[in-house]
Amino acid sequence: MQETNEKKLIFSGIQPTGTFTLGNYIGAIRNWGPLQDEYNCIYSIVDMHAITVRQDPAKLRQNTLQAYALILACGIDPKKSTAFIQSHNPNHAELSWILSCSTQFGELSRMTQFKDKSAKHADDINAGLFTYPVLMAADILAYNADLVPIGADQKQHLELARNIAGRFNQKYGEFFTLPEPFIPETGARVMSLQDPAKKMSKSDENPNACVLILDDKDTIIRKFRRAVTDSEAEVCYREGKAGINNLMTIYSAVTGKTLDAITAEFAGKGYGDFKTAVGEAVADHLEPVRTEYEKLIADKAYLKECYTAGAETAFRITRKTLSKVYRKIGFVDAR
Ligand code: TYM
Repeated sequence: MQETNEKKLIFSGIQPTGTFTLGNYIGAIRNWGPLQDEYNCIYSIVDMHAITVRQDPAKLRQNTLQAYALILACGIDPKKSTAFIQSHNPNHAELSWILSCSTQFGELSRMTQFKDKSAKHADDINAGLFTYPVLMAADILAYNADLVPIGADQKQHLELARNIAGRFNQKYGEFFTLPEPFIPETGARVMSLQDPAKKMSKSDENPNACVLILDDKDTIIRKFRRAVTDSEAEVCYREGKAGINNLMTIYSAVTGKTLDAITAEFAGKGYGDFKTAVGEAVADHLEPVRTEYEKLIADKAYLKECYTAGAETAFRITRKTLSKVYRKIGFVDAR
């Protein structure tokens, strides 16, 4: 990646939770690849964020490698973008400490993800879970990213990152770029197939609620066929039809068809036909990702080469930021 051109800078990250969900894919990752030509892109597997909930070490290591292979399989080209593993660049954690001193307890307490996760993991409400959004702000601000492609659920964290950056700039003089969220029009919030009032999430207890991007074709179709809808029989997008709205959004995201075109396509047909069609379209769309992933995960040496090079670039960029920050806040130069 070139570091000195006029292109705007994009940063985004994803937690290594094994294989990604269709929500991760539609809301975030599939939008990452197409940005690579127009922007300088930096993408990270955020393993340091992942340890805010309990992890099995062997599983975390495996999930991190899988996640790295998966983002490449989803179209991230390590020659065009910087793709690395967060813990390989210690500058994120260092900057996070500095930024935590410009972050208020009250604002962290208002984060809905913290409230949700602390309710879910009531026996492990650790300080990392609480300060998680500061590390996320450091991820973004360490590169002075202009844009951050995310799903709707991360918007509150991004707003906090902007506030932290603004406060730092006020205290020490203009320095950090205020990052803008880059949220897709279609699929910013993919919902559970079993309870369309809830976000699709891998931690859902019901395996039918969530489609994983490495699920095989039959599994994907079966999950869609079991999706909760409503008692009408009309494929159309309107209030009160959360299940159908979600399926239409997913179908639209993977086929590029408009909601009106989808309604016309399924006029007079039952929900069964529609659900099967959505399942097939999703499975066919994901087929090349699965094939590419199998190839990549078998080549650990290539993955290592890519993430090592990615971490070197990431380190170089962020060390410059950090040195300037240290000078601004009054630390004595180390050399
Ligand atoms: P994470 O790992 O939970 O999710 C990764 C991305 O997927 C999006 N997403 C969804 N989009 C639509 N519908 C859904 N059901 C759905 N579920 C997840 C998320 O919005 C996200 O964009 N804190 C972040 C990771 C992170 C990060 C960053 C992101 C750490 N540092 C810096 C951007 C910039 C997270 O936990 O995402």
